[in-house]
Amino acid sequence: MTATALSGREFVTSLMRDVESAMQRNNGVMPPGMDGPELPEPILRHWLNFAVYYEKAATAFIGGWLRTTNEPDALMQLAHQIEDEANHFVWLNKHLLEYGVAASSFTPPKEWAHLMEVFYPGLEHLVERLAAHNIASETGALGFMEYNMTKFPPAIRATVEKVSKDEKFHVAFGRRLLAKYCTTPELQERARRSTQDALNLMSAARRVFVKV
Ligand SMILES: [Fe+2]
Ligand SMILES: [Fe+2]
Repeated sequence: MTATALSGREFVTSLMRDVESAMQRNNGVMPPGMDGPELPEPILRHWLNFAVYYEKAATAFIGGWLRTTNEPDALMQLAHQIEDEANHFVWLNKHLLEYGVAASSFTPPKEWAHLMEVFYPGLEHLVERLAAHNIASETGALGFMEYNMTKFPPAIRATVEKVSKDEKFHVAFGRRLLAKYCTTPELQERARRSTQDALNLMSAARRVFVKV
């Protein structure tokens, strides 16, 4: 990739195009047995296991990022995001428990553990974090929820609607802060590379997830 001189906003627009086309490919990769009007219970439990793990892990690594977050507006938004992700963990975990499943019984596949416990926590710069997680990852999580929104049982659907509203907010402030802080060719290159890495890891994670 050659160095370019895009404005922050132009950069975010072009990054979103890459993320959305990757997500469209991912939305074609769904577990089998999801064609009916409702998600079968085994798939629901399977998704809840991964979603609960995702939310808890996100709470932890965003917390870790705060130590090296010096921009006041980013600090405030990420701190808010931590509370949201912790809420999502609690809400979704309640549904999981209603199926008699304890989150502690779930061992994430190595692709998921790498993404959530090594890759995201290891991102060093604010622009990499915003691009790879707030924008790429959260758009991916939203993709699954919105694609299947009408298929959740009513109580879970009400939760998923609340989660999805928050995730949209995390993408939105991620875009806003990235446009503000990602304004040099060097930073844009870093953000683009971490997004591409995240998209590749996410698509490997999706391929594992669909093996119910
Ligand atoms: Fe979340
Ligand atoms: Fe989120």
